[in-house]
Amino acid sequence: MLLITTIAGVRARRRELWQQGRTVAFVPTMGALHEGHLRLVDRARELADEVWASVFVNPTQFGPGEDFERYPRDLERDRALLAGRGVALLFAPGVKEMYPRPPATVIDLPELASGLCGAFRPGHFRGVALVVTKLLAITQPEWAVFGAKDWQQAAIIRRLVEDLDVPVRVEVAPTVREPDGLAMSSRNAYLGPDERRAATVLARALRAGEAAIAAGERDGEAVRQAVAAVVAAEPLAQLQYAAVVDPDSLQPLSRIDRRALLALAVHIGTTRLIDNLLVEVS
Ligand code: PAJ
Repeated sequence: MLLITTIAGVRARRRELWQQGRTVAFVPTMGALHEGHLRLVDRARELADEVWASVFVNPTQFGPGEDFERYPRDLERDRALLAGRGVALLFAPGVKEMYPRPPATVIDLPELASGLCGAFRPGHFRGVALVVTKLLAITQPEWAVFGAKDWQQAAIIRRLVEDLDVPVRVEVAPTVREPDGLAMSSRNAYLGPDERRAATVLARALRAGEAAIAAGERDGEAVRQAVAAVVAAEPLAQLQYAAVVDPDSLQPLSRIDRRALLALAVHIGTTRLIDNLLVEVS
């Protein structure tokens, strides 16, 4: 596996692959890799001749007081995991390489970014949209693969790729979970043992919402309350939001008649965790 830290280095390699007629599927990450990331790599391998990944803890998507400084970083471990999964090229730039000066460009999708997590992390999705656009412009892959765990992020990326005619196909792969249902996340590493047990409340709450729909509930607010009630019963958990939205527009659903996305954000101690579940009504 090639480890490349410069934009020029990635572009040079990309030119070689074009000459060979070989395609690339790209998996952007912030590192601290887990099986959820690695399944994206597995999916990417099915889509193109080579899989490329990036590890970059993007400062512009962290707000003041968020965990940019303490975000887990272990490039050696990430490098070994990606190489073991057949990744051909790892792009791991420094902050100066990506942002030689503060960017003047803003990519904002207010319709998709103002609700859910966006309501509590102002500017977060602008940071994500900008860095993903830059990474796609640098790597120029045929495919880019994202996880359904970050549903709102994936919806925003799909839409910006469409709006800006970015020549890439976006693939969204399913959320990978621990055996007890907790969605894998680099931030799970922050949890102490009691918190780790409490963190199962996100998946339990989503399943309660799904069960309510299965039992015939079609009122979005009632399903939202069923989700919130499970979180309220967990002493170590503090609900930030629970929502029942249209999976494409991300707008709140008053009536569920086809597909609903149940989504929530919960603080367990100082750790903020998110999860979501797509429910289809047959
Ligand atoms: P990061 O949180 O490292 O996630 C990288 C990719 O892995 C994202 O597409 C995310 O949705 C996916 N992912 C994380 N946990 C997952 C899980 N349990 N199952 C399936 N997929 C999972 O998301 C980011 O980084 C950044 O915002 C980034 C897109 C790299 C831009 O900086």
